[in-house]
Amino acid sequence: MEPQAVRPAIFEGRTTLLSAADPGAVPAAARTLAAGGLVAFPTETVYGLGADAGNGEAVARLYAAKGRPQFNPLIAHVSDLAAARKLAFFNPAAEKLAAAFWPGPLTLVLPRRPDAGLSDLACAGLDSVAIRVPAHPVARALIAALGRPVVAPSANRSGHVSPTSAAHVFADLDGRIDAILDGGVTPVGVESSIVSCLGPPQWLRPGGAPREAVEAVLGVPLADRPQAAHHGSDAPLAPGMLESHYAPRAGIRLDAVSVTADEALLAFGPQAPAGAKATLNLSPRGDLAEAAANLFSHLRALDDAGATTIAVMPIPQEGLGEAINDRLARAAAPRP
Ligand code: TXA
Ligand code: MG
Repeated sequence: MEPQAVRPAIFEGRTTLLSAADPGAVPAAARTLAAGGLVAFPTETVYGLGADAGNGEAVARLYAAKGRPQFNPLIAHVSDLAAARKLAFFNPAAEKLAAAFWPGPLTLVLPRRPDAGLSDLACAGLDSVAIRVPAHPVARALIAALGRPVVAPSANRSGHVSPTSAAHVFADLDGRIDAILDGGVTPVGVESSIVSCLGPPQWLRPGGAPREAVEAVLGVPLADRPQAAHHGSDAPLAPGMLESHYAPRAGIRLDAVSVTADEALLAFGPQAPAGAKATLNLSPRGDLAEAAANLFSHLRALDDAGATTIAVMPIPQEGLGEAINDRLARAAAPRP
């Protein structure tokens, strides 16, 4: 049976849930995007909220659906390096990184080609563009079916935890977007790492590609990004410069070595203290990839347990631990 996700470009207030396993689902989702609609889809990192990158009105509705400040530029998702070359200029560092990490969880910020055909709104008016080639088969099939770049921020309401399942997307965006393509739980669990190649390569956001691996490919250390710009001025830099960005309702207490009975515990490793109101372990065996994959869903589940504080055990600051600690620090930051 043909899924009924072919929506007119103007959203009617109903969100259709499509199973990616249904052979008609990806073509229906691509038709929705082509008509200017909004479709959430799985990538290997987190679920993205997709729009046709060339359709300014669709991009405007995307910002509205997320409740996102409009100065925050979006990542263009493309099928392969050839498609990326139509959007941006590659220097030797960018060439090396694309060859080593695409498809995969690394986003490159590059000089935008004047003939890229991207909506200026999607790029927040910048003359650069963030690009990635996702590895998830559903994301790849959707981009191929549309035949054009798809811009996609994480598919959550602005300021909420990023979604790693279709249920998370539904909880945040039901009634605000046209369709959700359900492809199961996303394997990496944190967003892509972002490297700027506008000058000497700069580490803008820790994520699914560890810094050490990126530096090994470049053969030189990455520059750190300039000190965080603050609320309202994050256009030219990167992500999550809004300090409180991955915010659960509960407060977050970092580096917890003990826990009280009224706290929920986000544990890591085999030595979790007993006695919390609710406990979830990111990785009982202390594996950082497993921890990243569980991070956002465990935060949501502990938040739903109703504790006023989530105590978080220390996470090693190496490999994917950098991205995990970055997201936890944002979740712990003072709320706007
Ligand atoms: O894993 C991911 O990257 C997910 C999935 C859906 O692909 N997407 C994602 O998008 O995390 P978003 O919009 O939540 O974060 C992208 C970040 C933004 O915070 C933005 O500041 C930064 O990329 N960015 C985009 N274009 C940029 C540019 N031209 N220069 C610097 N930073 C840019
Ligand atoms: Mg996001």
